[in-house]
Amino acid sequence: MGIGIKILGTGTYFPKKILNNKDLEKIVDTSDEWIISRTGIKERRISSKSELTSDLAYEASKKAIKSAKLTNEQIDLIIVTTITPDMPFPATACLLQRKLGIKSIPAFDISASCSGFIYGLATAKAFIESGLYKTVLLVSSEELSKITDWDDRSTCILFGDGAGAMVLTASYKTNDCLSIFLGSDGIYSELLFLPGGGTAFPTSKNTVSQNLHKIKMQGNKIFKHAISKMVFAAKKALMLASKKKDDIRFFIPHQANIRIIESVAKKIGVSINNFFINITKTGNTSSASVITALDEAIKNGTVKNGDLVELIAFGSGLTWGAAVLRI
Ligand code: ACO
Repeated sequence: MGIGIKILGTGTYFPKKILNNKDLEKIVDTSDEWIISRTGIKERRISSKSELTSDLAYEASKKAIKSAKLTNEQIDLIIVTTITPDMPFPATACLLQRKLGIKSIPAFDISASCSGFIYGLATAKAFIESGLYKTVLLVSSEELSKITDWDDRSTCILFGDGAGAMVLTASYKTNDCLSIFLGSDGIYSELLFLPGGGTAFPTSKNTVSQNLHKIKMQGNKIFKHAISKMVFAAKKALMLASKKKDDIRFFIPHQANIRIIESVAKKIGVSINNFFINITKTGNTSSASVITALDEAIKNGTVKNGDLVELIAFGSGLTWGAAVLRI
């Protein structure tokens, strides 16, 4: 066999501050009952003003490197996935590299919204399989709270902050990454976007007064696309791995809305009990969602050594992806 992928360790970090639905009732016209019944979310974590995306990434990375039983110096490449970087440039991956004290290795960011972790996984896999780099630190870190419109009740109830990390290395004996399937369709880019601050609308007094630096979303349309694309991606990745749905011990979906997850489970033909769900306490943390859920499932014993899991994600772009992994 050629070069395979071995997952050495994972780690998660959530900011300490909890914002629950009752707190949101004081900010916008909503109710705990509406949010739980329409989304499944009870609370989410919110970073402090001084706590940056790279700080969350740093804490998750330390845990992943420790669980991999490696030192920082054994990492060859850093990939960060985020749509909420510390700043437009340099890459948050470089800022993380500085915090980890690792010198002279490549570090870059990937922007693929909520599908970011699976896009990052595909990138890490390609680098490892090509023989270019041996050990990759892949981190998905997000602070959605800082781009959320706190006056918009249809979006501010959904998002939260958090970071998850994975350390992967080359192996000639095993291959823990059985398949990856990715897709995107830019025609729907305006269903979920942040228009301000780029070359389309460079930051100005106007863009700020029009709130263009905050998330804009057409929730209903996103909802429908999310279900169909997640089902499509999940089936494709299973096929590419030559596995059946019953071979999968747990499905780890992007935690965007409990109703989306329930619908995806139904359409794939799998019991919801085989879907790992932690949205209740995290909200939607974009690209950090699947890796933090996977880490929790590993750490609490839901997923055990040797189990097959399927990650399934969907996000703005639109982007989507799925991956079959052996834990
Ligand atoms: N509290 C109370 N009422 C609300 C709230 C709220 N927080 N938000 C909306 N409503 C109202 C609306 O105003 C509307 O009222 P009306 O009928 O009087 O006009 C009513 O509830 C129904 O609104 P809908 O938008 O149809 O509600 P829906 O059931 O679709 O739920 C939601 C909205 C939760 C946003 C849903 O559409 C959703 O989850 N969509 C997917 C969003 C998503 O996953 N986004 C992330 C993708 S991943 C990424 O890339 C970040």
